[in-house]
Amino acid sequence: MQTISRVKGTQDFLDTRLFQFILEQFQTHVSLYHFNQISTPIIEHVELFKRTLGTYTDVVSKEMFVIKSASQKDDALCLRPEATAATVRAFLQGQPLTTPWKVYSYGPMFRYERPQKGRFRQFHQINVEVIGSSSISQDALLITMLDRFFHEKLKIESSSLQINFLGSYDDRARYAETVKVFVDQLDGICETCMVRKENNILRIFDCKNPTCKTLYENAPVMIDHLSSESQKEWEQLQNELTLLSVTFAVNPRLVRGLDYYNKTVFEFVSGQLGAQDAFCGGGRYDRLAQEIGSKQEYPSLGAAIGIERLMLVLEPIMDLLALPQPHPLYVVMPLSQEQNPLALLLADSLHAADFATDTYLDGDSLKNMMKRANKMGAAYALILGEQEQNDKTVLVKNMMTGDQEAISQVDVAAYLRR
Ligand code: HAM
Repeated sequence: MQTISRVKGTQDFLDTRLFQFILEQFQTHVSLYHFNQISTPIIEHVELFKRTLGTYTDVVSKEMFVIKSASQKDDALCLRPEATAATVRAFLQGQPLTTPWKVYSYGPMFRYERPQKGRFRQFHQINVEVIGSSSISQDALLITMLDRFFHEKLKIESSSLQINFLGSYDDRARYAETVKVFVDQLDGICETCMVRKENNILRIFDCKNPTCKTLYENAPVMIDHLSSESQKEWEQLQNELTLLSVTFAVNPRLVRGLDYYNKTVFEFVSGQLGAQDAFCGGGRYDRLAQEIGSKQEYPSLGAAIGIERLMLVLEPIMDLLALPQPHPLYVVMPLSQEQNPLALLLADSLHAADFATDTYLDGDSLKNMMKRANKMGAAYALILGEQEQNDKTVLVKNMMTGDQEAISQVDVAAYLRR
């Protein structure tokens, strides 16, 4: 029989320390900015993403994991491809909540993409959102919070921040017309772009086809077509980031792959990541709440960190991070199954006294148990043989020095504490 392997594009985390470290550091960091943690379901209605991310985005048109319940009575459901739409849905359902509602969450997301370095079909995001604030200063604050997290808390030096401004929805509609005039003059765009041109022209800039990419190099850019009001906000954002000493580069071609954005968009990228170079992306989405069905406007903004990609960025600088050190390990070793009950009792008393204790109960030889304990970096071995059982003692062996001493069973915790 063939062994069953993991699903293509998914990963097993056999060591979760770095993952946990990132989460804990983020939680500590954002609590200083007064963000609270929430959690939303992994399954949502497909409609939620169709309406908000856009039918012609890659995520919705090609990458959704659509699921059906066995009874097939439910509407089409899917595994969430991202968390923003779900967060706004949760906000609208949880009303009344005070705004700005500043929340973060984390968990698995699902996109049926072609797997490659840093690109998975199940991946994890930390998602952070500010719902109900129209102030562009809020954008500067959110970007600064992320920038401080990456550079100061995680000591990343290899990344850069790219920003762009997509203007208001009216600016975008006018800009789309300008792009249409430009594209109409082009020869040889691919079939997907032909469809996008008719349905959602700005998505042509997502095209990976090399011919299209070359053709679009001279396309008009959004920041040259902003209304005077948008232009002011765009300048304000740049000024405030400069005031806060946040280094950024303006990338007029940055459009992001989801339709809900307006005004600010940004990405933190790292050259270490190859083609999939963004480990965090976000922006403003002032109409998303209305697209879900809200009568009231809730201008909002947020970002998501790709945890797998952030881990790739951090791997070379792990030594600089204060990853939590494991507790010293104590190993209880019964020399035969007869001593297992006593081993269980001893380990129980050590657990109660807060010692990290492993208990080898599988009847291995002392030599093998020692080898295993050594591999695990154990501090002490606590050996229980027939003699120790009779004498009510434990043979306590220091794994570093090799010194060993018989200690009365009742005194072991006190002895180890010394
Ligand atoms: P996104 O750019 O689609 O934005 O994803 C955010 C981040 O998730 C990316 O920068 C990347 O690090 C990671 N990511 C995306 N797809 C994959 C994948 N297939 N494999 C591994 N990592 C991936 C959003 O999802 C928006 N919801 C962000 C946002 C929040 N905007 C406003 N609020």
